[in-house]
Amino acid sequence: AGLDAAGGQPAAVPAAPPKAAAPLTVIYASESGNSEALAGSVAKLARKQGFKPKVVDFSDLDISTLPKAGKLVAIAATWGEGEPPARAVRAYGELMGEGAPRLDGVEFAVLSLGDTSYAEFCAIGKALDARFEALGAKRAAERADLDLDFEKPAADWIKATLKALAPAEATDNVVAVDFARAGAGEDDEAEPSREPLVVEVVEHVNLNSSRSDKETIHLALAFEDGAPAYEPGDSLEIYPENDPQLVDEILKAAGLSDDEALRKALLAERDITTLSAATIERFVKATGHAEAQTLIDSGEAKAWIEGRHLIDLIQTYPAALTAEHLATITRPLPPRAYSIASSRKEVGDEVHLAIVAVRYETHGRARSGVASVHVADRIRDGAKLRVRLKPNRHFRLPQDPATDIIMVGPGTGVAPFRAFVQERRAIEAEGSKTGRSWLFFGDRHFTHDFLYQLEWQDALEDRSLTRIDVAFSRDQPEKVYVQDRITQHAAELVSWLDAGAHFYVCGDAKNMAKDVRAAVVKAYETTKNLSAADAEAQVAALERSHRYQQDVY
Ligand code: 2AM
Repeated sequence: AGLDAAGGQPAAVPAAPPKAAAPLTVIYASESGNSEALAGSVAKLARKQGFKPKVVDFSDLDISTLPKAGKLVAIAATWGEGEPPARAVRAYGELMGEGAPRLDGVEFAVLSLGDTSYAEFCAIGKALDARFEALGAKRAAERADLDLDFEKPAADWIKATLKALAPAEATDNVVAVDFARAGAGEDDEAEPSREPLVVEVVEHVNLNSSRSDKETIHLALAFEDGAPAYEPGDSLEIYPENDPQLVDEILKAAGLSDDEALRKALLAERDITTLSAATIERFVKATGHAEAQTLIDSGEAKAWIEGRHLIDLIQTYPAALTAEHLATITRPLPPRAYSIASSRKEVGDEVHLAIVAVRYETHGRARSGVASVHVADRIRDGAKLRVRLKPNRHFRLPQDPATDIIMVGPGTGVAPFRAFVQERRAIEAEGSKTGRSWLFFGDRHFTHDFLYQLEWQDALEDRSLTRIDVAFSRDQPEKVYVQDRITQHAAELVSWLDAGAHFYVCGDAKNMAKDVRAAVVKAYETTKNLSAADAEAQVAALERSHRYQQDVY
């Protein structure tokens, strides 16, 4: 086991006597797919090194099996304000709870993913790392807490960790495998390319009326050499550019206004908005700024960061900065992912996106979402963008097109459902029977904010959409949201679910997705006369069987 010719190793590698492969369990808690992809990389490399890896999603994890894991790698993303990914909530809660089994004899390592622009950076990975130890397991390798530019450090961590986990007598047989090669195993064929691609903007229209207080850009992007093989439910990452005005302000505050090369780098390569505790620490280290040091020492940094960006830091604590300082203080500019709003069956070599421009004000300063406002303000027809496909196999139409679907997507959360409806229309045109489909859409005002209204009307007419219920929150004195429509039509919704419908939610994770889930639980409770606990169990069962899927952010 282990020495794989496909890895391109020199022929001189001695043939190791066949040995029982060491079992390795890789568990992952993933929201957007990064932890999942890394779990796959661990397994692939581990197999080449003579382990027998098993990969388990937290959503399928039976924690009573962990004491027998032997060797355990956990990869966990932290979401929002320090929360586990939605699919991981159940198993994570069990692990943290009183019923968790002892893990004596287990060797473990934790890789944790997060985003330093959120307060509780990597909280879930940190908690798991401490928990495994508290349950008696032995830490085989130090945890790594990785920010959005995790790919290279994750690859290094995986290599080092597998070395640490390798059975003592087997270490001689562990061949140094080139990580990049190991990632290109034989079972990769079906995976679409993850290389950044250049696309041309062929359509750029505001879906809101000019009198709306929102601006949602419909983007059609054309791939010159054919669109990557995306599926409805996948996302597309956009590599944005920063606001040139903000770049100039930063250069000015740093005393570097005439550095053209730096200006270019700050425009396209560095994250010049995010401010985290780590940013302040790096700033103090680079500048020796005593006052900024006080901010850290006093413990007030966390509160101060709230609603502030890098520009606030360098304007509040002026210091002469060099280009090197700025490079060490900032992180690489991460791409932003958007749910794809089209089906290849209908749009061919294009990808469509719906992107709402994020603009707000904090501490007396206008702020804007980096990618969304780049797209809204500085991209037009004919412009080029760099993008990358981000597959999401946890947000998929039912395998059988005859299965009914219920879709809940307020605001730009409706994007993937445009893809779903396009796909099912095309499937129907190809001659297969498709099931019923029911869309819940919500936004502020009917007249200004009904995204893709005409398309939904066409879809109702050609029956690729069976039913739509809308909730315009600001057209009447009291708020009406999609979950209110669910409650209003609870009996019918439950009858669809009883008939096997799959249920999908896309959009805001913090409030909407939770409120929608609660409304579905309530729908079971009222229409079937169940206790709250039994109704909850119904929805949990839907989730476990992947009939309740979320794409939330
Ligand atoms: P609001 O802005 O009037 O509060 C898309 O953004 C739509 O989602 C808007 O109509 C918005 O309403 C609504 N929305 C806000 N909070 C929500 C929640 N917790 N659940 C569902 N919809 C919500």
